[in-house]
This record gives sequence, C-alpha cells and structure tokens, in this order.
Amino acid sequence: MRKKVTKAIFPVAGMGTRFLPATKSIPKEILSLVDRPLIQYAIDEAREAGITEFIFVTSRGKGALEDYFDAAPQLEQTLRKKNKHDLLEELKRSTMDSGEIVYVRQREALGLGHAVWCARRLIANEPFAVILPDDVIAAEKPCLKQMVEAYENTGGCMVAAMEVPPHKASAYGLLDVKEDMGSLLKINGMVEKPDAKDAPSNLAVIGRYILTPKVLNNLGKLKKGAGGEIQLTDAIAMEAKSGNDVYGLRFDGQRYDCGSKSGFLQATIAFALSRPELHDELMDFLAETVGSRRAAQ
Ligand code: UTP
Repeated sequence: MRKKVTKAIFPVAGMGTRFLPATKSIPKEILSLVDRPLIQYAIDEAREAGITEFIFVTSRGKGALEDYFDAAPQLEQTLRKKNKHDLLEELKRSTMDSGEIVYVRQREALGLGHAVWCARRLIANEPFAVILPDDVIAAEKPCLKQMVEAYENTGGCMVAAMEVPPHKASAYGLLDVKEDMGSLLKINGMVEKPDAKDAPSNLAVIGRYILTPKVLNNLGKLKKGAGGEIQLTDAIAMEAKSGNDVYGLRFDGQRYDCGSKSGFLQATIAFALSRPELHDELMDFLAETVGSRRAAQ
C-alpha cells in the first residue's frame, strides 16, 4: 500500500520584493484576492486534497501569518452577538486547530530548495506535498487533489506542469520529457530558467509538488544553482537522473502567478467576477473603463 500524502510544506520565507513597499510590513501571502489572503486559497486546496499537517517555512517579519491562523475570540463574540453567522463561518475556515500547523524558520533566503530542506526534520519516511501560495489555481477539482489522485497510481515524485509561450519559457523550470502519456508525463529531468536555446520543452513546473523524502537528502547535497539559490527543481531532477520515476501532470485549471503584479491583478479580476454579488457592477466598470481607454488611444 502506498503511503498517503498527509503533510504539506508551504515555503513562505521569500522577501516578496516585487510587491514593495506593501511587503515591507505585510507578508506577501496575506495580500488578498477580493477578501481572502493568498494563503487561505493554498490551505483550502491542501485540505481538499487530504492534507492534515501544515508546515510553514517562514522568516523574520512573517508574524502576521501566525496571527491569521489563530483564534480571534473577541471578533467571534462580536459577530455572534450581531448574528453574523456567515462571517463567523468564514472566520472558522481561517482558524487552525492547535498542533495542526507548525512553523520552522529559514534563517537566510537561500532559495526555494533550501526552504523546503528546512522542514526536513518534520517529514519522516513519507511522501509530502509542497505548495507555493503565490501560484493560485482556479479549478473545478483542486490542482493538488488532481495530483494526489494521479500519484496514487504512479508513486514517485510529481510536479504540476503547464504549457507556456516560448518567449516566456526561460522564466520557469522546464521539463525534459521522456514519455508523453497525455495528461501524465514521465520526465528525464528539469532545467531551471534555461536560455531560450537550451529549453528542453515549453512545459513549465509551477508551484505544486508531491515529493519523496529522497528529495530532502538530495537537497542536503546540493550546491547553489541558477540565480545563486538552492533549487528544488535540481533536487527533483537528481531523482530522475538516478533512475527513479518523476512525473509531470498537466492539470486542469487556470493558474495565476500572484507573485507578480500583473498576475495578481488578473486573479483579482477573475475571482471578483466569479462572485455573483460583485459580477455585474464590476463588468459595467470594466466595460466602461476599457471602452474609454480604447477611445482615447
Ligand atoms: P519567489 O521567487 O517568488 O521569491 O519565491 P519571493 O522572495 O517570494 O518574491 P520576490 O521575487 O522577491 O518578489 C517563490 C516561493 O518560494 C519561497 C517564497 O516565499 C515563495 O513562496 N521562498 C523563496 C522561500 O521560502 N525561501 C527562499 O529563500 C526563496
């Protein structure tokens, strides 16, 4: 029997420089799409995929994240008194049970791979998920759930894969595909942010992973890679090179890069339009604004 994936690592120790000055005092993961912080989308997706233990890799200045997941007795009492039951329910979704969530610190921002490695003592001999909250994925079936279901048949390591236009490919980790089986791909390896001429494909790795504990050993042996950082993709590629199965899953869904301003704004509009109470007013505003901009051009 394959071990179930019940633990997820959320690396949130990055500095979020692309959102300065906002991220000077607020963690990027607390920035909200409509009214829910990015981190809430990540937690909900993990829960729906069967995750029961949540491991946060944090750094200095991320205290607001810990507060966000704490109980808020005063606020709850006020909402109860005012019979605001809907808001109370919303609030409950953001509260984690004692012991459900743990925090480890990354002392220095040495890269995503290093952040994942910081959680090594909390992962025993079991598979685990990694979720980057910057990547928000709108999908009928949550992306990580799609991956967990595929993993139940394949085992090994699995990354979420997405086709990207060739001119954007060198901003991503790209898959070197061994066998294309439709939605599932078996891969030879991965290259982090290659020059366009060295790109092995236009299939990019995005922020969802299911990994075996061997990847943590690999991370411990790695030297700095692309951008002077310890790269998670290098440690996963080592698995493929040593003959172990590594898969990519072309997931169903729309991914938004909320680590970039443009992606964040696109997600804000898309999520707002999916809310019936906001849809009509926002559509009118967008039509009017786009119309008058076009007319002025
Ligand atoms: P990014 O590349 O988006 O970096 O990290 P960043 O620091 O968050 O943002 P910018 O580029 O300065 O605007 C991708 C993910 O990896 C985590 C980040 O928190 C984010 O979830 N990360 C990155 C770490 O936890 N530690 C690191 O050393 C680097």
